[in-house]
Amino acid sequence: MSALEVVGVGAVFWFIRLVTEPELIETTRLLKEIQIYLDPHDETPFLICVGIILFLVTGIRNGMAGLTLYAQERFVVRQNLGFSIRLIEAYTKKSYLWFVQQNSADLTKKVVNDTWEISEKILYPIVDMTAKSIASLAIIALLFFVDVLLTVMVLATLLVLAILFYAFLQKRLHFVGSSLMKADSTRFKCIAEIFGGLKEIKVYGSEKYFYKKFSYSANTHRKFMLEQRVLSHLPHLALETMAIGALLAVIIYSLIWSQNSAGIISIASLYAIAGYRMLPALKSIGVGANSIRLALPFLNSLENDLVLETGGTDIFQKEKISFDNQITFNDVYLQFQKQKTFAIQGVSFHIPKNSSVAFVGTTGAGKSSLIDLLLGIYYPNTGKIKIDGAPLKTTNIDAWRSRIGYVPQQIYLLDDTVRNNIAFGTNALETEDEAIRNAAKLASIDDFIINKMSRGYDTIVGERGVRLSGGERQRIGIARALYRNPSVLILDEATSALDVKTEAVISEAIRNLRKKMTLIIIAHRLSTVRNCDAIHILESGKITDSGRYDELVDRNEIFQKFWQS
Ligand SMILES: Nc1ncnc2c1ncn2[C@@H]1O[C@H](COP(=O)(O)OP(=O)(O)OP(=O)(O)O)[C@@H](O)[C@H]1O
Ligand SMILES: [Mg+2]
Repeated sequence: MSALEVVGVGAVFWFIRLVTEPELIETTRLLKEIQIYLDPHDETPFLICVGIILFLVTGIRNGMAGLTLYAQERFVVRQNLGFSIRLIEAYTKKSYLWFVQQNSADLTKKVVNDTWEISEKILYPIVDMTAKSIASLAIIALLFFVDVLLTVMVLATLLVLAILFYAFLQKRLHFVGSSLMKADSTRFKCIAEIFGGLKEIKVYGSEKYFYKKFSYSANTHRKFMLEQRVLSHLPHLALETMAIGALLAVIIYSLIWSQNSAGIISIASLYAIAGYRMLPALKSIGVGANSIRLALPFLNSLENDLVLETGGTDIFQKEKISFDNQITFNDVYLQFQKQKTFAIQGVSFHIPKNSSVAFVGTTGAGKSSLIDLLLGIYYPNTGKIKIDGAPLKTTNIDAWRSRIGYVPQQIYLLDDTVRNNIAFGTNALETEDEAIRNAAKLASIDDFIINKMSRGYDTIVGERGVRLSGGERQRIGIARALYRNPSVLILDEATSALDVKTEAVISEAIRNLRKKMTLIIIAHRLSTVRNCDAIHILESGKITDSGRYDELVDRNEIFQKFWQS
């Protein structure tokens, strides 16, 4: 490629020389022989041949340039794909604790926007600069071959000017790059707030506030975007000016020092063509260096995010876990970051397999946190959680989770069909329809899906299930948990949105599961927990009493208050 570049430049140079100085043919033996071979009396056929060869060389050169361009673009687009997939993988493997400290709109921006910023503004320039520099190296070599001193002078001047220019802009480039990143982040968060809370925004009449908030952040973004785009072109404009200046200097130099006017024209045309050929390289280096500086803040911000956390999902570390006897909590403490007190304080209990236990307590007592510990979402600061005597850890947590059916306090529904929402995260095949329907029947939602939903199990429920009522969402959540046929079923306020009658139907269905699976229930309504084998009362992260329903009704004041309410 780079040799072709030289031939391209050299050919035009020699062609012009041949036309302007025909005596060259006479003095060069090889050329003369070729010319005589073609036509001893006329130089025109020879010149036409040279012209055709020159055209072919240019054609091949540009064809190769096209292929190189394709290879470069393909490399960058592929890298970008790999980059964003790796980032999503890293995010899904990070601890939940890390995740709750992030803003999801910001993470979305990083996966969609920032990876592209890096691919386009760092990776592409590096590839492009390298390719074009290699091509230029050969041209520079040719220039050296023609006139060493002159070439050194021109190159040194260009280099010094470029370095000065870059040093001058450096600080501003960094500032604009990081400001642009921050502005982008605010913009994404603002959009997420508007779409996430549109109902509340409408009800509280705060459309204007959010509209203004967005337009402010979008305006800041625009300001830095404009500066970034202009700045990225400055070096190339400056370099181009310098290159033209250098060319003019060459012509003046030749006029003063050279006696041969035809020589001046050919040297000048060589430099002009070399300059013309090198302009894309100069532009690419100038724009590239600036664009890399501008995008560095994006790369820095992703550096930590990209670190893969090896843990439960690492296939090389997977361990099995057996659950034949019991779950044990042994003096477990849990403290959240930035919280003054422990959310769970010295909790100990055990849950025999296939028994049913309930945790009751006031709001904020730590019930959901206890479940999160059991799910391995968080790990205790001190104390142990054991399954059949084996402590829960990152290596066996996947095996443990695969046995669990979990209905959280807030159910997350996909903007997908009811079927896919129940099968969640697995590809529901036609053959699994029966299993899906059975789960839905247990959760008392099959009737509704078949009779009320427009397309039955193929009805799309809307983002986060916006087209469903709270109780319908909960029942789909319960069906989702039961579909996996778990050995442990955890219900965190899973029936809180249901009316007493529907809840009774589900409770009955769940009661029928007793002895078939281990049930862990958190509920405010005591009717839900009446039949449990054990009930633990949780107050400010501590278990203050445990017993069967009748025992607690007799002796525990808190429980009595619950019972009366
Ligand atoms: N990720 C977190 N970071 C910091 N504090 C947290 C976090 N999650 C929960 N907490 C705090 O821990 C305490 C226990 O919360 P938890 O959700 O376990 O209560 P709960 O008993 O489930 O309450 P509710 O009945 O309202 O659901 C609360 O004071 C809460 O503010
Ligand atoms: Mg809770």
